[in-house]
Amino acid sequence: MQYQNLLTKLVDNILYVTINRAEKLNALNKQTISDLVDVVSYATDTKEVRGVILTGAGEKAFVAGADISEFSGLSREDAEQLARTGQSMLFNAIENSTKPFIAAINGFALGGGLELAMACHIRIAANNARLGLPEVTLGLIPGYGGTQRLTQLVGKGRAFELIATADMISAEKAERIGLVNYVVAADELIAKAAEVLNKINLRAPLAIAAAIKATNAVFEHNVNGYDVEINAFADCFKTSDFKEGVSAFLEKRPANFQGK
Ligand code: COA
Repeated sequence: MQYQNLLTKLVDNILYVTINRAEKLNALNKQTISDLVDVVSYATDTKEVRGVILTGAGEKAFVAGADISEFSGLSREDAEQLARTGQSMLFNAIENSTKPFIAAINGFALGGGLELAMACHIRIAANNARLGLPEVTLGLIPGYGGTQRLTQLVGKGRAFELIATADMISAEKAERIGLVNYVVAADELIAKAAEVLNKINLRAPLAIAAAIKATNAVFEHNVNGYDVEINAFADCFKTSDFKEGVSAFLEKRPANFQGK
């Protein structure tokens, strides 16, 4: 896999993806978004990939936002198209992937960068990370799902305050309000993300995919999440992994799941 603005490596079924535009604080320009769309589709479709860790190159930023230099000159229609295609092809594609994504936030996660982290299933922050949605300072609001996902994660009052003030918050505060799952030292960030993903990877892959689908359904207005859960639960009974999981429990041995 060759990407213009990403570095990737597959180790022990984990795909490590590093956004590699450190000189622009990994800002999401068109090329980077296109690379990310491709890598998300690759990760979702490739059996050897059991999960993804997403981080930013350099010591300063995860992603400092959408690339502001590409905003000038956009018409209303262009802007709608940008947000709509970005949301469906990248941000929703991550959230709805059958594979778990962990954002390893190694510095600034601002605007589209925080939106990218929030589309992931788990967020882990280095203790020097700074998080925020500063779009109103540009006369904008978030357009890649930030108003929705931040509200889902931290509640409306806190989300509105962050969006309206454009404040950047510390990793510790982000953990306190439920925006990130863990805060660790910068040099332990990737190891912590791998530890969490390795634990998930011991479990049955189809059950993990079902858990992603059912937890996402909480926020889908046109579906009944309880029904999604019932169907996803029932579908697990058709899998070989379910038989293996029960046999392993009864035989007092670790399960060896095949994702079938
Ligand atoms: N889009 C485009 N370029 C960006 C960028 C973005 N979102 N964020 C940073 N950059 C570029 C800077 O223009 C600069 O490029 P240059 O060296 O060619 O001038 C480079 O990245 C380094 O950033 P700089 O601002 O010099 O670093 P800093 O340490 O002084 O400040 C930030 C860091 C994150 C506070 C500052 O870069 C910033 O406010 N970025 C924009 C954040 C934002 O509003 N994001 C939401 C976008 S919708």
